[in-house]
Amino acid sequence: MAVITETTPAQSLSASVGKLKLNGQANGNGHAHSNGNGHANGSAQAQEKDAKLVDPFNYVGEVMGDVDPDYPFKDLLPHNPKRSHPDPALPMFDITDRGHFADPNCARLRRFVESRGGTIRELGICVGTVIEGENVKLGELNDDEKDDLALLVAQKGVVFFRGQQDMTIESQRDLGAHFGPLHKHATYAVPRRADLDDVVVVYSDRNSRPDMFAFSRAELFHSDVTYEQQPPGATILRLLVTPDVGNDTLWSSGYAVYSSLSPFYQKYLESLTALHTGYNQAASRSAVHTVPRREPIETVHPVVRVHPVTGLKAVFVNPGFVTRLVGVPKAESDNTLAFLKDCFAQQTDATVKWQWKAGDVAIWDNRVVNHSATFDAYPSLRHGLRVTPHAEKPISVEEYERDGKVARDWLTDRFERLGIQGPKKDDGKTKTGGFRD
Ligand SMILES: [Fe+2]
Repeated sequence: MAVITETTPAQSLSASVGKLKLNGQANGNGHAHSNGNGHANGSAQAQEKDAKLVDPFNYVGEVMGDVDPDYPFKDLLPHNPKRSHPDPALPMFDITDRGHFADPNCARLRRFVESRGGTIRELGICVGTVIEGENVKLGELNDDEKDDLALLVAQKGVVFFRGQQDMTIESQRDLGAHFGPLHKHATYAVPRRADLDDVVVVYSDRNSRPDMFAFSRAELFHSDVTYEQQPPGATILRLLVTPDVGNDTLWSSGYAVYSSLSPFYQKYLESLTALHTGYNQAASRSAVHTVPRREPIETVHPVVRVHPVTGLKAVFVNPGFVTRLVGVPKAESDNTLAFLKDCFAQQTDATVKWQWKAGDVAIWDNRVVNHSATFDAYPSLRHGLRVTPHAEKPISVEEYERDGKVARDWLTDRFERLGIQGPKKDDGKTKTGGFRD
């Protein structure tokens, strides 16, 4: 492979895109500058008339304004190349999850972090871990440590790393490729640099204003490209530029949604499959170019999938791509999917919210968490790069248990480890609700 260079962090001084020079502008330490109250200055107000309303469900990543000639990441700005014909459909990949090769306690990864003076800190009981330390560099992980990271991500849903400004897109892709073949997105923008067609550009500038009339917050929770036959396991997202405040991301655990339900409802969901469609996302590209990168597909996946490494069951539906349950009357399908959508959006105890800094990396396991963007920092500039390795075709409970293994419930597992006996039965008495403090 040819040696590829990327703009260095040292070049990020005074980064800006377009004419807006205040809110959301990258400063010398790699952080976006904010005026503190989230309001644009006079210059921004003067430019507001240029902004286009952007529906997050109908957006592929575009530069909406003029690019500042000094912007340090110009070669990584979003690009939507014209195509004369679509690529062929994706093949089926033979994938063995790297988490199978992990130390059960992630000991090698822990040693790597400790040897560099770093720390591993839990952010929630069910979801979220942050690995911190100025000398902890993701690009220095060896294969054994990467395998341990795969297990930690599978266990905690999402793992964060601060301060990865030194990471190059090459080492980000290498890390992703260790986990599985890199996905090429059917619709989203790729970097302008021509050799990065397995990288997705996450981008918004002061000319792309979120259309707050186009979505509800609950609808934004999704798992990446689940219409694919082998949707991604890990997503590795690194932000180059982000505002000081706002545009956080949330992750909500599918393990916890499953654990929160009655045994009867769990069994019902385990019996179901859902239709995941790529047609709506493909339509979003048609506004940019008429020929898609790949023809859209629809795929049926189990509603409850089992993670092949942890053996835990997770609810695997999302309002972004799932249109209906298969073999279920429409009213029942609509209500069940709406209920599950609300479960993901409302479980405050099993959701983690991350406040980004430039150079942060989040690695999450799409098999076991749904995630959601927030859009509160307009007109700030936000620019990131995403790498998404494929994982196995989703495994149903029935498939997982076919050879004698038993799929597990996350909360039951936790209680057993702690020696806690959960209540076996509802006492049938009136429950008073609500805090009264
Ligand atoms: Fe996403």
